[in-house]
Amino acid sequence: MDEEPVDHSAYSAGEPELQVVPISTEHLDELMAIELASFATPWSRRLFIDELAFGPSRIYLGLLFGDRLVGYIGAMLVLDEVHITTFAVDARHRSRGFGKLLLLHVMTIARDRGSVAATLEVRASDRGAQQLYQRIGFVPAGIRKNYYAEEGEDGLVMWAHDLQGPTVTEHLVAIASELIAINYPMPNHSMGAD
Ligand SMILES: CC(C)(COP(=O)(O)OP(=O)(O)OC[C@H]1O[C@@H](n2cnc3c(N)ncnc32)[C@H](O)[C@@H]1OP(=O)(O)O)[C@@H](O)C(=O)NCCC(=O)NCCS
Repeated sequence: MDEEPVDHSAYSAGEPELQVVPISTEHLDELMAIELASFATPWSRRLFIDELAFGPSRIYLGLLFGDRLVGYIGAMLVLDEVHITTFAVDARHRSRGFGKLLLLHVMTIARDRGSVAATLEVRASDRGAQQLYQRIGFVPAGIRKNYYAEEGEDGLVMWAHDLQGPTVTEHLVAIASELIAINYPMPNHSMGAD
């Protein structure tokens, strides 16, 4: 990837258009560059190809900044639950709300598809990501000892219960209002607030 100054400011008019799109194989070169730079034990390209082939039981969304992929999120739908399985933003674009935007979209789509609960694992030491998940309605539920074995680190399991209920709706509406105010694109799905 080209070196560029890190921009932690909010997105502003005049910057390339932001768009949340379904991930397809054409995004995989850029996705893999972010994946390799973001994780000590990255997923392989093959794994992403297999995941994309699962179709409706998966949600894979990418964030385009102009024509460039700057983040992605993946989720697996199992019966009436959704499991967030992968999530990263290009380090040059972190702390601009892009992660929050991707989470808002994936949670809204999962709710629209009937999910009633969401779960994920996060490194026990990663307070920043945990804070982000809490803002969207996740709460800590337990520890998986040595879940990140290569790094010798425990995983914190988090759940957002009652996805269709008022508490999660309030969280999503609050995040959406914040992002609408800075012109971020909203999901074409109901927030369930009416
Ligand atoms: C986790 C990640 C996707 C967040 O993306 P991001 O675009 O930087 O997140 P946002 O800018 O939307 O942050 C939203 C909130 O989370 C908090 N946050 C996110 N990452 C944080 C960090 N590393 N440290 C402190 N706070 C953080 C911010 O305080 C922000 O809160 P605010 O809205 O009140 O300002 C990104 O840090 C990343 O790619 N990390 C490496 C890969 C990874 O760890 N993925 C998650 C696996 S569980």
